[in-house]
Amino acid sequence: MDSQCPAPFPAGFADTVRSQFPLLQQNPDLVYLDSAASSQKPQYVLDTEQAFYTSSYANVHRGSYALASAATEAFENARTAVAAFLNVASDEIVFTRGTTEAINLVAHSWGSTLRPGDEILVSTLEHHANIVPWQLLAQRSGAVIRPIPLDQAGQIDLAAFHSLLGPRTRLLAITQAANATGTRPPLAAMIAAAHAAGALVLVDGAQGVAHGKPDLAALGADFYAFSGHKLFGPTGIGVLFGRRDLLAHMPPWQGGGEMIASVSFAGSSFAAPPQRFEAGTPPIAQAVGLAAALRWLGTLDADALAAHEAFLHSRLEHGLQQLRGVRILAGNTPRAPITALHFDKAHAFDVAQLLDARQIAVRVGQHCAQPLLAHFGISSSLRISLAAYNTPDDVDRCLAALDETLDILA
Ligand code: ALA
Repeated sequence: MDSQCPAPFPAGFADTVRSQFPLLQQNPDLVYLDSAASSQKPQYVLDTEQAFYTSSYANVHRGSYALASAATEAFENARTAVAAFLNVASDEIVFTRGTTEAINLVAHSWGSTLRPGDEILVSTLEHHANIVPWQLLAQRSGAVIRPIPLDQAGQIDLAAFHSLLGPRTRLLAITQAANATGTRPPLAAMIAAAHAAGALVLVDGAQGVAHGKPDLAALGADFYAFSGHKLFGPTGIGVLFGRRDLLAHMPPWQGGGEMIASVSFAGSSFAAPPQRFEAGTPPIAQAVGLAAALRWLGTLDADALAAHEAFLHSRLEHGLQQLRGVRILAGNTPRAPITALHFDKAHAFDVAQLLDARQIAVRVGQHCAQPLLAHFGISSSLRISLAAYNTPDDVDRCLAALDETLDILA
């Protein structure tokens, strides 16, 4: 099933990485700076998924024939690979469609134990996917959402956070890195404080996971969610990590095949986790593709990758500081390689359109983070996000195009 996984990268990092991405090879003039929305896919991931479809594909868990066993083995091996990547156990890994579905799963299943007056702390850094499921849960349960405010810099206001924690706090919902600004909150301190108050912690890893292997055993989060498509893997696959003792007591949230132990009209009983939370045919080939993405990521030297991203990010922001009328949102907070811009004299949508005409792909809008943008008193921004395959030339072309564009729009 496997095609050849490339060897670890030596020097010449960005060019070597870039050469493995067919879309970038076929579009040499494209400057792709929207990896926070979705990353491009390496040939190895595409080949692995195609090889799975052409040699080992069948539905999983129910077949009594050799092909179904091979497919089941590949699917469950993917679960083992994800667990190893996160440094947790395989039965703590639930496959979902993405981060959004993973958070909704927790809100529906674990959330069904909430009582009126219970409190959920949600930070102002969050993507809507880590806000709205909790609001819907609050409507169903009578629980109360307590927003955690930000300070002037756009970082969590820790004093306010501590004052919000109390005996009714049941959950802290917090991002690992804000999708709209890249800001990394002080996770370790927040998790420790939430636990000391008797609350659980759900970490949205959608952005953080792409910029450094998370060690969940060390982090101590109770739930962690991420999507494959932002991590060089396929769309349609996400992961929920849940602590084994928590998953064991959580009720199903979707009913169907695969998640049951027995069914009769007198009543049904349910499978143990993780199958209890995976009703219906799961994203089989996508899980195999995600495992391939993790193997591919494992071929990159982690220190070289971190240094490469930090170098590009600082080159970008140094260049932006030379441009007049450009503000970097949360520019003084620790951040993933994401830069959000607001312009004094130009509309972000106009800037993005002129960049697109120069084959520079950036994201513009509210980034599914309206409360965060409201904190800055704006309704849209232009976001530049970097990944392993970006080069210094990408950054320089973006800076030159921004300079030209801002002149045109002045
Ligand atoms: N959540 C994705 C983003 O931040 C789509 O762009």
